[in-house]
Amino acid sequence: MVLVVQSNGCPILRRAVPALAALRAAYAPRGVEFLMINGSPGDSLAAVEAEAKEFGDVLAILKDDTQAVLRGLGATRSAEAFVVDPRRWSVVYRGAIDDRLGYETSKPRAEKRFLADALDRLLAGRAVSVPETPVQGCLVDLSVRRTPEYVHDAAPVLARSCLPCHASGKVLPTLDSYEKLRGWGPMIRETIMTERMPGPRVDPRYGRFKGAWGAEDAKLLLDWLAAGAPRGEGEDPMPALAAATRRGVPELSFEAEAEERIPAEGESSVRLVTLSPPAPRDLWIEGIEMATNPDVTHHALAVSLPAGAARAAGPAMAAPGRQLIPAKPGPGYRALPGDGSAFVPKGARLALEVHYVPSGRLALDRPRLSVWTRKGPGRPKALERLTLEQKDFTLPPGAREFKVEVKKRLERDVDVVALWPHMHARGSWMRIEAVAPDGRREILLSAPRVAPRRQPLLELERPKRLEAGTTVVATGAFDNPSRDLIRSGPDPSEEMFQAHVYWTAVSR
Ligand code: HEC
Repeated sequence: MVLVVQSNGCPILRRAVPALAALRAAYAPRGVEFLMINGSPGDSLAAVEAEAKEFGDVLAILKDDTQAVLRGLGATRSAEAFVVDPRRWSVVYRGAIDDRLGYETSKPRAEKRFLADALDRLLAGRAVSVPETPVQGCLVDLSVRRTPEYVHDAAPVLARSCLPCHASGKVLPTLDSYEKLRGWGPMIRETIMTERMPGPRVDPRYGRFKGAWGAEDAKLLLDWLAAGAPRGEGEDPMPALAAATRRGVPELSFEAEAEERIPAEGESSVRLVTLSPPAPRDLWIEGIEMATNPDVTHHALAVSLPAGAARAAGPAMAAPGRQLIPAKPGPGYRALPGDGSAFVPKGARLALEVHYVPSGRLALDRPRLSVWTRKGPGRPKALERLTLEQKDFTLPPGAREFKVEVKKRLERDVDVVALWPHMHARGSWMRIEAVAPDGRREILLSAPRVAPRRQPLLELERPKRLEAGTTVVATGAFDNPSRDLIRSGPDPSEEMFQAHVYWTAVSR
């Protein structure tokens, strides 16, 4: 693979484009991939796109908006080329493309073809003879204006993005104080670089989502870790930040009648724990807080059970319950998105679906659920869901970019308040669009990468009004690198394609 550092408006790079195009034409058929990478803070995605168009879209350009890749490579100038040996993920050549271009000079023809020579030797299975050459190109601004520190900079980001799942307990690393965080530095860096934590980013050009994980957050944490994770002066704000995720005195509380016993060893289990008492009146729930034993809880979900299902048990998702809050596991106060409420009729049972993980010791747990209901004028609105799901598909072994498209028409005017793309391990990307009755298309969400189990509910900063007759279209693709045929189904070994659109009715 060849990576060439790009920055907008760099004359040397511009003049190198024909040479790169020729190299790609020669080597792409032999399996070499050519890409450019832009880490210049001043070059927006749109500006990079425009520049690429101007040069005939010769190579795809990656945007390194955290500058983590450039730093990792030690790149400082555009027009520098890197040859990466994908078998070992090591850089076997770095430097100039050839000796034709310089700051003041430009030979009519290259005499030394550094990059081509390196590729020839790599493809022949030999060591690259000139692994490094000096490069002339435009310096990329890699400066960090101010070294971030924990107390004022990193803690708020960690609290917002990580505490929802890493607040306490033994199942996941506890990241709720500077002392506990420190030892996890290298691992935090890795999980952010690989976009495993807190999850992949959505394309920032489409839709505005509350508290969404962005490039600035990733960059701040990576810069902080690169500087040795300095603490900074003052009290550790994390306990206060963690406390702020609690709402306070519950309006109503529900509790399990008996204690759950989680054996010291064995398989993890998902249990549906019914809570008491039944709903004392009709409830329009606006937010909840769950309390389970953090030492053995992987995650928990609150559900309301239909009448007569109180004793139902068994595997989580198969349970007949209705989730009070979609896709928001974890402790801390959880509000329903937008102005939506979850309706629980008088007498209905609430339950928690808890995924328990053995901790090496017998553990007891008596799950509890706190509930707050919506007050204020007007009738509360139910949070409704439109699900676009592709069922009955099979992924052939080795399939790449296996496309799926699902459409549904809205029969009434709605305010979209949240979106949730859901695919399993082979999900690659998903896009949700709205096509208005007059044919206008608008992208509501573009998730260039969808990670299994790390797909938070994306709550819109402001509700998006869609009129009756609008068609919602979800498109996406799967990659199946395995040799097995994968069928669709709810089991994690199977695949799913669901786009959930949460909405509330438009007030009149
Ligand atoms: C939605 C829940 C969730 C959020 C939010 C989250 N994590 Fe995690 N984290 C997990 C789970 C679950 C695991 C256990 C591994 C797994 O299941 O993938 C984990 C594991 C980890 C690990 C241990 C190493 C590993 O890969 O298993 C680290 C380090 C970590 N997370 C860091 C972070 C950081 C830093 C953030 C915030 C930027 C964060 N996490 C946000 C759920 C979450």
